Amino acid sequence: MKVTVLGAAGGIGQPLSMILKNNLPAGSSLSLYDVAPFTPGVAKDLSHIPTDVCVEGFTGDDLPKALEGTDVVVIPAGVARKPGMTRDDLFNINAGIIANLVKNVAKTAPKACICIITNPVNSTVPIAAEVLKAEGVYDKHRLFGVSCLDVIRSETFLGEELGVSKLDVTVPVIGGHSGTTILPLLSQVIGSEVIPQDRIEALTTRIQNAGTEVVEAKAGAGSATLSMATAGARFALKVVRGLMGEPGVTEYGYVEGDGKYTTFFAQRVRFGKDGWDKVYDFGKISDFEQKNLDSAIDILKGNIQKGVDFGKKWVAENK
Ligand code: LMR
Repeated sequence: MKVTVLGAAGGIGQPLSMILKNNLPAGSSLSLYDVAPFTPGVAKDLSHIPTDVCVEGFTGDDLPKALEGTDVVVIPAGVARKPGMTRDDLFNINAGIIANLVKNVAKTAPKACICIITNPVNSTVPIAAEVLKAEGVYDKHRLFGVSCLDVIRSETFLGEELGVSKLDVTVPVIGGHSGTTILPLLSQVIGSEVIPQDRIEALTTRIQNAGTEVVEAKAGAGSATLSMATAGARFALKVVRGLMGEPGVTEYGYVEGDGKYTTFFAQRVRFGKDGWDKVYDFGKISDFEQKNLDSAIDILKGNIQKGVDFGKKWVAENK
């Protein structure tokens, strides 16, 4: 397997690349690309870690070289939030960055699975889809938004609430990856029946605002990098396991699924040899969760449409 990280020298990209270097299957290769000129240095640094994964670093005009033969592309490139900003406030800067990078992926590695971390994920994934469609290589099974940071946060917060190991907690999180579009299904967590409704509501709000919690705590120095890198690596490594033929590997991801609620929707997906091959229905949810889902749908639809409109315009202007 070859995995390429675009934005590899940044706050998310470096720890993400380190986790991949330490955990990709032996014989894999890891390709790092960033506009930062020291990116080959990051690759050199990682190359001293004794795992059987070879690492190469690229910058400048070498994006096609970085992408050649890639099976999985992970994209954390772009700008992070500062206090007072929403993820959507990043749209104007990050939308063009994603469109350009994805066009390069389409040209050099058209069959690669693409995992997008760059915010606002609710919109950057639809942008990527439009660019891939224009290049004639869109396959919805190979395009993902990495929303599972919401899952890992939920596992942490619920583990604390229930007084159990976080490793033993599983929390479905559906919808999108921004504010009230983040929909944790706490009613489905084993043991959650002992949590009073007011705590369920407070935990839901905390999960929805957890990104902002980090942005405020970093006080202007950016948003989540280490937990985001952990989530991004967890996701990418599962994509790799699916591509290598391991059966039954699943995770929550933001994909163009069955369109029951919105065209793109975060849900549990199963990874196969050609990207995701199954999306799971989330089953029975509580009245509180249903109310949250109902009110998230229009917001999510708006975020998606904004991405689609931008994508179409960008494609027309960048022929
Ligand atoms: C997060 O959830 O931490 C990331 O999406 C970054 C952000 O801006 O919140």
